[in-house]
Amino acid sequence: MEFHPSPIYKREKRILSVNYSVPTFVKWAGGKTQLLPKIADLLPGKFNRYFEPFLGSGAVFFYLEQKTSCPAFLSDANAELIDTYEVVKRHPRELIRRLGALKARHSKAQFYRLRGKNPKMLDRIDAAARFIYLNKTCYNGLYRVNSNGGFNVPLGSYVNPTIFDERDILRASKLLQNAELQHVSFEITEKCAKKGDFVYFDPPYHPLNGNSFTGYTRNGFAEEEQTKLKRVFEKLDKRGCKLMLSNSDAAFVRSLYDDFEIRTVKARRAINCKGEKRGEINELIVVNYEVPSYLPLYLAEETTQKMSLPSIIASKRSLNMNA
Ligand SMILES: C[S@@+](CC[C@H](N)C(=O)[O-])C[C@H]1O[C@@H](n2cnc3c(N)ncnc32)[C@H](O)[C@@H]1O
Repeated sequence: MEFHPSPIYKREKRILSVNYSVPTFVKWAGGKTQLLPKIADLLPGKFNRYFEPFLGSGAVFFYLEQKTSCPAFLSDANAELIDTYEVVKRHPRELIRRLGALKARHSKAQFYRLRGKNPKMLDRIDAAARFIYLNKTCYNGLYRVNSNGGFNVPLGSYVNPTIFDERDILRASKLLQNAELQHVSFEITEKCAKKGDFVYFDPPYHPLNGNSFTGYTRNGFAEEEQTKLKRVFEKLDKRGCKLMLSNSDAAFVRSLYDDFEIRTVKARRAINCKGEKRGEINELIVVNYEVPSYLPLYLAEETTQKMSLPSIIASKRSLNMNA
């Protein structure tokens, strides 16, 4: 196969090492950190701008941005989450200072006192510090709100929770400088993405049984939303966007995307509703483009500079996609 270095590589002018460490600063149900090696292997060879409309902890964005520095459009329906990203982007040092104060006084009383506060009544940096503090100390890092929109997850049972890592917040802030953030539902992508852009959709998973977590927002994410999302996927496909979507291995999801290429990957997830037991389950990754058979240069190891094309192809093939 003829090999064309991607424009992203040319813009970056250097090859960074394959390093799957990402500076996520929230713990998020369905977070993609552990699946990054498999997702990376299925990324398109080249693209213009990056869109991630179900951002959560942003694992895929942070991974890609470390490699490409391309313009990114990030959004999520969770307003408090997006407000927190804005603070990480613009005021990382003041956020770290306030998180340090919360960490020093961490206690059950402080958790419930902060949980009881209305974030809209706080200044934006205090609201972000509260959001990260509650996320890292609550039960399983869950985000759940009551009918009034008040966060209602109880305190977790961590002995010494890692509330934040200063270096992660500073790294995340730097990587967010090229990104536009919006608190908005996923349909926005249909209005903004153009031919040649890459969109990664990671919606709340369709339940495999009655116990799966789809909470995240007050409205949930039922079959109707999954079907609406499929319509957006189809429209962007026709427009010439490159698309990737993750979801559970449910018959309903397979039937929605049966016109596209569906790969099965294994993920370690909570396998009961309380999240106490973990096990390996199949998940789906749908793509609408031909996955390059060579390792895109923007993802290659530093050592790749010294490797020939056949060895790049060989290293790519040695990754077991369905393992
Ligand atoms: C599976 S999580 C994404 C996880 C993320 N990829 C990560 O690595 O952490 C799904 C996300 O979709 C968001 N969400 C739920 N309904 C939405 C909607 N209608 N539009 C946009 N985002 C939505 C939730 O707030 C949640 O952050």
